[in-house]
Amino acid sequence: MTAGPVSARPPSTDVPRYYAWLSRFQDAMRWIGHDTGQRTLTVHRRLRSASGEVSGDVLHAHLLAGLGATATHPVGVDATGDGPLVLDAGCGLGGTAFFLHAHLGGRAIGLTLSPEQAARATAEAARRGVDAACRFAVRDYDGPLDDLLPAGADVIVAIESLAHAPDPAATIGRLAARLRPQGRLVVVDDMPADGVADNDTDLAGFRRGWHAPHVASTGAVDAALAQAGLTVVLDADLTASVPRRAAISLALRLLATRAVAPMATRTPARVLHEAILGGLHLERLYARGLVRYRLVIARRPGNR
Ligand SMILES: C[S@@+](CC[C@H](N)C(=O)[O-])C[C@H]1O[C@@H](n2cnc3c(N)ncnc32)[C@H](O)[C@@H]1O
Repeated sequence: MTAGPVSARPPSTDVPRYYAWLSRFQDAMRWIGHDTGQRTLTVHRRLRSASGEVSGDVLHAHLLAGLGATATHPVGVDATGDGPLVLDAGCGLGGTAFFLHAHLGGRAIGLTLSPEQAARATAEAARRGVDAACRFAVRDYDGPLDDLLPAGADVIVAIESLAHAPDPAATIGRLAARLRPQGRLVVVDDMPADGVADNDTDLAGFRRGWHAPHVASTGAVDAALAQAGLTVVLDADLTASVPRRAAISLALRLLATRAVAPMATRTPARVLHEAILGGLHLERLYARGLVRYRLVIARRPGNR
């Protein structure tokens, strides 16, 4: 197993601004009573459960079930009996860290590039009285993390965060090297099929709007996990749980969003306009069957 390249390309400076605007958008949606993830403190896809519920916690339920199914120790207990140390690489508002801490105990460290998200997550940890166990920092997951994880992590989760990495395969290598032996890396993301043309209008629109210039394809993620010396122990295709819009509704939204572009691009909120457009292009990729929403768990070998 290698630690991956030592020096990483710096992350995009646009990402913090993008998430500051998304937080404001979620706040605004809350005022009109529409949950876009603020209830679960998540910035990931709200999936549909078997009972029809659409929420950020549906992915959390899949995550917990996956961790349970692939555990080598009783769920909630690592080899030391202290509860797992979880690193959330790209933690958003902290919802996943809080969820895993509530169900597994142990400790969680969340990293984000957004000072706004880190401040919100830290305040929420204090409000919940879990600030000793759930900590958040504005740090690059590609940077040195030895001070935070001197003995490595039991579980590293990267939910819709590798899409922003300048080199997702190298990031997977670095994160894998931070796992303890038998530790698990969880990657959840929208993964384009291999072979979708780089200049495909929908792929390009999605990447531009969501600040995901190097989003990794399904095959690229698999290859990076293997290259990092990890063994895939669970591969769940959650695409069927991704809510879909009717084709006509999607087409009309795209038309309307493009129509307001000349106005929107002149305002500071253009980043939101681009994000909405990016999301619609991603929906079209789903409609065309060219992207899958995958939850992959891969284990580092070795004895503890
Ligand atoms: C789509 S949000 C997902 C947040 C969270 N995982 C969730 O499920 O709600 C992507 C997150 O990745 C973070 N991120 C992107 N690149 C990062 C980097 N290089 N280091 C740390 N965090 C990063 C962003 O700041 C943001 O919090």
